[in-house]
Amino acid sequence: MPVLETARLILRPFGKEDVDLLSELMANADFMRFSLGVFPREQTTAFLDKVIDWQHGGLPSQFAAIHRVDSRLIGYCGFLHQQVDGTDEIEIAYRLHPDYWGRGLATEAAQAVRDHAFRDLKLPRVISLIHPDNLPSRRVAEKNGMKVENETVFRGFPTFVFAITREQWQTKRAVG
Ligand SMILES: CC(C)(COP(=O)(O)OP(=O)(O)OC[C@H]1O[C@@H](n2cnc3c(N)ncnc32)[C@H](O)[C@@H]1OP(=O)(O)O)[C@@H](O)C(=O)NCCC(=O)NCCS
Repeated sequence: MPVLETARLILRPFGKEDVDLLSELMANADFMRFSLGVFPREQTTAFLDKVIDWQHGGLPSQFAAIHRVDSRLIGYCGFLHQQVDGTDEIEIAYRLHPDYWGRGLATEAAQAVRDHAFRDLKLPRVISLIHPDNLPSRRVAEKNGMKVENETVFRGFPTFVFAITREQWQTKRAVG
């Protein structure tokens, strides 16, 4: 798994040593907004193990987002493997520490991950699953070139399926 660099972030693979900092983040209710709730340490460990297993299996996985200026682990942005209405999908998902919201950082990370998906991994499409009330996340998906394709129920919640195909990404780049 490569390291992706953006103007303000380093997106690197997770390691087991990230468990303390990630547990702190996942115990924060703001960080975990629009999820099933905060994670106790055991649940974060299980999440981290899953992410590291995907990495070792050569599958798309999550990146740890490191803020360059202060070298802090401020969240994650990368891939999750989901089943949506019976179809296997690869999701771009992101969460950042609230101190870092509203500066365009999630957009910066999501765009780097999207470009990696299409340019390097040659994925046919990626989606983002977003609660209709999650306006900041919807905006990040839009700025990532995604469009709402469908509204469904995912894990019991109303959910917009935002999507972009490789073809759409290529066309956008060609047009500029
Ligand atoms: C979603 C999240 C990652 C966004 O991070 P961020 O770095 O603040 O995002 P950005 O700054 O790149 O972009 C946010 C956009 O939402 C907009 N926005 C923020 N709050 C908003 C609100 N209440 N209503 C409408 N738009 C809003 C911002 O203005 C910005 O759009 P703009 O660039 O057009 O002005 C962050 O809020 C977060 O971690 N939330 C909790 C976890 C979460 O919801 N993850 C997504 C699950 S689907």
